[in-house]
Amino acid sequence: MIVIETISDLTAQIAEAKSKGLTVGFVPTMGALHQGHLHLVQKAAAAADLVVVSIFVNPTQFNNPDDLLKYPKTLEADCALLENHADLVFAPATTEMYTRVESKKWDFGRLTSSLEGHFRPGHFDGVCTIVQKLLTIVQPDWAFFGKKDFQQLAVIQALVRAEGMPVSIVPCDTIREPDGLAMSSRNMRLNHQQRQDALLISRTLHLLHDHKDDCNIEQLLDLGKNAFTPASGLSLEYMAIVDALTFEPVEDKAAHPHAVILIAAFVGDIRLIDNIELKWADTLAKKTA
Ligand code: PAF
Repeated sequence: MIVIETISDLTAQIAEAKSKGLTVGFVPTMGALHQGHLHLVQKAAAAADLVVVSIFVNPTQFNNPDDLLKYPKTLEADCALLENHADLVFAPATTEMYTRVESKKWDFGRLTSSLEGHFRPGHFDGVCTIVQKLLTIVQPDWAFFGKKDFQQLAVIQALVRAEGMPVSIVPCDTIREPDGLAMSSRNMRLNHQQRQDALLISRTLHLLHDHKDDCNIEQLLDLGKNAFTPASGLSLEYMAIVDALTFEPVEDKAAHPHAVILIAAFVGDIRLIDNIELKWADTLAKKTA
């Protein structure tokens, strides 16, 4: 495994690999790596000859400067985890990626304006700006993204379509701790009590999934929101059930056979997100009839 800090060194390594006919799998990350990231890297290794992982805490996607400051930075441990799994680790300085630390503007309708886009203004501009730069530099055959950031995944698929980028985006399942908590770099900041409280998010998602066919949308959302009592230790930012492709809010299940419930909530000052996909029993039945 080689750790690279400059774009020119990275492009030279990739050009050499491509000249030998090797395929490239890419996993972009912001570091503070966990088993969820490793799962993406393993998927990349199964698909491609050369596995490239980037570690870059992208300043332009943090709408909250405090969140950027507190974001865990663990490069040494990250490289130790990637050893034997990745071929190239790209860990550039901010000045390597940005001459001016600012984003381009991107508008993919509801995908960029709703939920994360609404509550984190500018976030997806930053994500699209850095992902476009990284994909242009790495030129991968496949790029791997986790469904934990379900909306980000939809935005990146829209970005790649809009820009005509020759890369396949591979969605990968959310990896959970044995008790259900979705793996996230932010979990490192949770203390013992907050870690316990945070379980409410995945438990609520699974509860709603269990009731998806015996409740209507309003009932499902009421059931979910009522779980976030003041005593829960969590403060709910949003809970929504939207179409998994368009992010249009679901009112009529039949019109949206593939939906997703998304939650964002604060545990103290730590913001966590999670989601679960929904396929309604009666629409599934119609498909298989
Ligand atoms: O999901 C992340 O870690 C980041 O948003 C990404 C895709 C690496 C862009 O900075």
